[in-house]
Amino acid sequence: RRSPLTGKDGYDLVVVSNRLPVDFTVDHEGRVDWKRSPGGLVTALEPVMQKSDGAWVGWSGAPDLEVEPFDADDMRLVPVTLSATEIERYYEGFSNDTLWPLYHDVIAPPAFHRQWWDAYRRVNQRFADAAAAQAEQGATVWVHDYQLQLVPRMLREQRPDLRIGFFNHIPFPPLELFQQLPWRRQVIDGLLGADLIGFQRAGDASNFIRAVRRLTGYTTRGPIVTTPATEDSPARHVRAAAFPISIDSHTFDELARTPEVQARSREIRADLGDPEVMMLGVDRLDYTKGIRHRIKAYGEILQDGRIDVEHVTLVQVASPSRENVGAYQELREQVEALVGRINGEYAEIGHAAIHYLHHSYPPEEMAALYLAADVMLVTSLRDGMNLVAKEYIAARSDDQGVLVLSEFTGAADELASGALLVNPHDIDGMKDIIVAAAHMDPREQRKRMRRLRRRVLADDVSKWSESFLGVLQAMPSRDTPRRQE
Ligand code: G6P
Repeated sequence: RRSPLTGKDGYDLVVVSNRLPVDFTVDHEGRVDWKRSPGGLVTALEPVMQKSDGAWVGWSGAPDLEVEPFDADDMRLVPVTLSATEIERYYEGFSNDTLWPLYHDVIAPPAFHRQWWDAYRRVNQRFADAAAAQAEQGATVWVHDYQLQLVPRMLREQRPDLRIGFFNHIPFPPLELFQQLPWRRQVIDGLLGADLIGFQRAGDASNFIRAVRRLTGYTTRGPIVTTPATEDSPARHVRAAAFPISIDSHTFDELARTPEVQARSREIRADLGDPEVMMLGVDRLDYTKGIRHRIKAYGEILQDGRIDVEHVTLVQVASPSRENVGAYQELREQVEALVGRINGEYAEIGHAAIHYLHHSYPPEEMAALYLAADVMLVTSLRDGMNLVAKEYIAARSDDQGVLVLSEFTGAADELASGALLVNPHDIDGMKDIIVAAAHMDPREQRKRMRRLRRRVLADDVSKWSESFLGVLQAMPSRDTPRRQE
């Protein structure tokens, strides 16, 4: 594990996330190959990783796949192996059927199973061990998201010399919901192993601080928690604060300006029969996204005769997600039944009411869809940030298009001045706003879109990672010697 850049035997920056930023394929002879997956996090971290000699620890995405660490794009990639049972209990179970619904305001009921918790602990320990083995003395380790909340403390126990940051990409729930978790205290203690804990919204950080105060009794002062000294470690200060994430806005803006994407966007509109108004929804097929609420409102607008299918159409991209989890299977059934009913009722030959696409698409196609859409519908019931809203804005260098945005997204904190905010539970209110969006005059659209673009182009994802790492690295270092193994 000698770093090729510095010759040292560890890395200065280690990122830990559930998934590695590459997709693996195994051919019929068992040969493993990989290609980059274009996620937001890797775009954000690549420049810092390259500058500072970095390693990335994460799961390959497949069961029982054992791959040795390898170098790609000036980063060390360190795969963590998960068995099929661990995927079932740690990933599908505890992460996505316990924590995910609990942290998204129990829109679906969270399931609490002790076997899932045991697997979560064991797998978190494996990630922590892998990160500890990669990190140079005094290195910075940045742990990501709800799948790995125990890693900060597990790391600190082995490596008190490290600076540890944690970022939660999803909401942190109010105490009264978080409290339901049978292992709430262990999760809080796991997170408090970090020096800096980042959240999407100020409200998430204050929910966390309140949970710490009520469940541990530790002293808190504003955003700072003081954990008491123990026999072998001094008292520590942990900071919790909001760092709203963004996208690589300039690259997306440039992509949407290319002649190919522009031509494709005209083609999409033509293929849809040149509607006067094209509405668009783009989501992972997840019950947090409010897809059913959105489609219900749209169906009622058609029923009320406020719009008609000859002039208006809705394109709904719902990318497949977590298909082994029951709540996701049920949602798919419900959404597909609803789409079928509305199309059956209102579509005409050559004029679908809803074009439903259960696929995921590359960024070029997404940019073309955004450019083609007059109205973008983001109606999440709960959402850490929602990057689709930001991508839509970054694509619209023509200053046209209307963003309908749920109050329950992190993005609403930043985009309230240009978007039309909705409460997706209020179907009548949402219907009025969707109709208003469909009729908004181009001058008003321009005024609003300019405001939105100023914001999204200024706060891009590299600013996000620099500001998180800046705060983390400015915290007093501990000079604690690396513990001997
Ligand atoms: C959310 C989470 C991520 C997760 C992504 C896709 O954005 O915050 O941690 O990677 O959803 O979900 P998946 O379960 O496919 O990784």
